[in-house]
Order: sequence, then C-alpha cells, then structure tokens
Amino acid sequence: MASETATPETAGRWMEIRTVGVAGCGLMGSGIAQVCGMSGFPTVVFDVSREALEKGLAGIEKSLGKLVEKGKLSEEEKARAKSRLRPALELTEFTDCDLVIEAIVENLERKKSLFAELDRTVKSEAIFATNTSSLSVTELVAAVRRAPQFLGLHFFNPVPLMKLVEVVPTVLTDSRVVQVALAFGRRLRKVPILARDRAGFIVNRLLVPYLLDAVRALEEGVGNIEDIDQGMRLGCNHPMGPLTLLDFVGNDTTYYIAEILFNEYREKRFAPPPLLKRMVLAGLHGRKSGKGFYDYADPQNPKPNSLV
Ligand SMILES: NC(=O)c1ccc[n+]([C@@H]2O[C@H](COP(=O)([O-])OP(=O)(O)OC[C@H]3O[C@@H](n4cnc5c(N)ncnc54)[C@H](O)[C@@H]3O)[C@@H](O)[C@H]2O)c1
Repeated sequence: MASETATPETAGRWMEIRTVGVAGCGLMGSGIAQVCGMSGFPTVVFDVSREALEKGLAGIEKSLGKLVEKGKLSEEEKARAKSRLRPALELTEFTDCDLVIEAIVENLERKKSLFAELDRTVKSEAIFATNTSSLSVTELVAAVRRAPQFLGLHFFNPVPLMKLVEVVPTVLTDSRVVQVALAFGRRLRKVPILARDRAGFIVNRLLVPYLLDAVRALEEGVGNIEDIDQGMRLGCNHPMGPLTLLDFVGNDTTYYIAEILFNEYREKRFAPPPLLKRMVLAGLHGRKSGKGFYDYADPQNPKPNSLV
C-alpha cells in the first residue's frame, strides 16, 4: 500500500516526533492539541482567527478541568499539559515541528492552500497529516512536495474521550512514516487502525449506511422514532440509537458525508434517503439546531418529532 520514495536527504530523519503543530483550533483541533499536550508533546496550536483560538483554548481548559473533577488527571498534570501548548496566529511558529496535523474547515481549496504554505514554511523532514473526514487524502497530497511524508490521521469527536484514530496512508506514503504515525497514535494513548484512502475510511463507510438505513426504516414505517432507537440500544447494546446519533452528529453533516460516499462508490446504500434531505432543507439539523428526529426544547428530555 505504501511506497518508499523519500529522498536520501530526508530518509530516516522523521523517525521521532518530539514537537507537534496543530492547524485549526476548532472542535477537533483543540481536542487534538489537548491530547498532544497531555501526552507530553510540546504543541503549537494555530488558527487564522484569534477568536477561534481563544475559544478553543477555553474549551481545552474546561475539558482538562472536567478530567481533574473525574479524578482522571491531577492538578499538576493539568498544569503541565497546558504549559506544553503554545497558541499561534502565524504559520511561521510551525517551522521546527516534527509533525503538523491539519484540522481546519472541511474545504478542499482551503486545505490545499494551507498545506502549500506549510510546505514552504515547515522544515522539509516534518510529517504532515490531515484530519479530514470526507476529502481524499490523495487529492490533498498534490499541494505538497513531500508526498512520502503525508497521510491522514482521523480522530473522533470528542478527541480526549474517543480511543480511536484512523491512520490513512496514500499510495505515495513511505511505509516508515506509517509506522511513525501508528506509534504516535499509541503515544497519545489512542488505538490506531490502518485504513486505505477510500471515502469514509473504515468507520464512516460502515456507520453511514447503517444510519441511512435507520432513516429508511422510519420512512417505510417499520417502526417509530423511539422504537427504532430503543431497538438498537437494547437489542444490540449500542449506547445510543441511530436516530439519536444522527441528531448528535448533525443531519447536515451526515447528509454531506453520504453524498461524498455515494459519489465515490455509486452504491444505493450510500445514497441519502429523501426524508434526510428534506430534514436538512428544513433546517432540522439535530441537537445543534434544537430540532431533528427529536425536539430538544427541553434538552434533558427530548421528544420525538412528527416527521412522516
Ligand atoms: N466535527 C467532527 O466530528 C469531526 C470528526 C473527525 C474529523 N473532522 C474533521 O476535522 C476538521 C475540522 O473540523 P471541526 O469540526 O473541528 O471544525 P471547526 O469548524 O470546529 O474548526 C475549524 C477551525 O479551523 C479554523 N480555520 C479555518 N481556516 C483556517 C486556516 N486556513 N488556517 C487555520 N485555521 C483555519 C477555523 O477558524 C476554525 O477554528 C475537518 O476536516 C473535519 O472534517 C471533524
């Protein structure tokens, strides 16, 4: 799967990750920076927006505080983790990082232009990773001259709590870089799995058709909202039912990912059902918009919506 095309000058020099850079301090970037800091890595965390950077850092403070409350982290560990994070508004702060993880908005052109700039700014032996959920890692490689040192590192939300990271090499990634990425994932106390660069990688490729099928079951009247969710919680021991999960992820987000999967595979199971499309058009995006399959007027006690 991976090739060995590193130049003699760079080969063997990216064996150890000492310092990390995280580009984008939103939901995912702040979580990734937090776990890097907690795992002992001096980490530069960058955002184009000062406001987003401050919001992300406040989120990290809150999340670390919760871990202390739960007894999972001591006050000293929290202070040490925070002291390892260096907020930045200039890309030049990444110059000496061994690994830069990109977690900016899911937009191909913006990601490509960021990577092109990083390629010019960051030392040539550094590894670049993208946290994209739905874009092709291979398409992003075109923006840099260090294809052997480029791969996907796909974390899950919320990053400090979710154990998984998908490691996604392209056909151009050096196999030694893949090993470095797997070892890095383990140093973050995550469980890394290897996935090919195909839309959805492993998790979304399996999860999305299941979620879409739950919407189809609802549309076809197989069961009502609560019974479909209850069925999968109690029948399969899932922590939440598929319609609750759709509301949690955001129906717009799942719709967008389903379109990408369908475009790649052209298989019916990935096609978003009409009801999901109508819900997105109507602004029923789920928890974040207050309404989806459930109504969250009382967030502690969501009530099923009448949709079909
Ligand atoms: N949200 C999820 O559940 C999830 C899960 C896995 C992966 N992802 C992926 O992670 C990435 C980030 O998603 P998110 O949910 O954290 O988004 P978000 O909107 O919360 O954060 C994106 C951040 O990137 C910043 N940004 C935009 N352009 C930038 C640039 N050129 N340079 C630096 N910063 C820039 C924004 O200011 C914002 O703070 C996306 O690629 C997404 O597909 C998201």
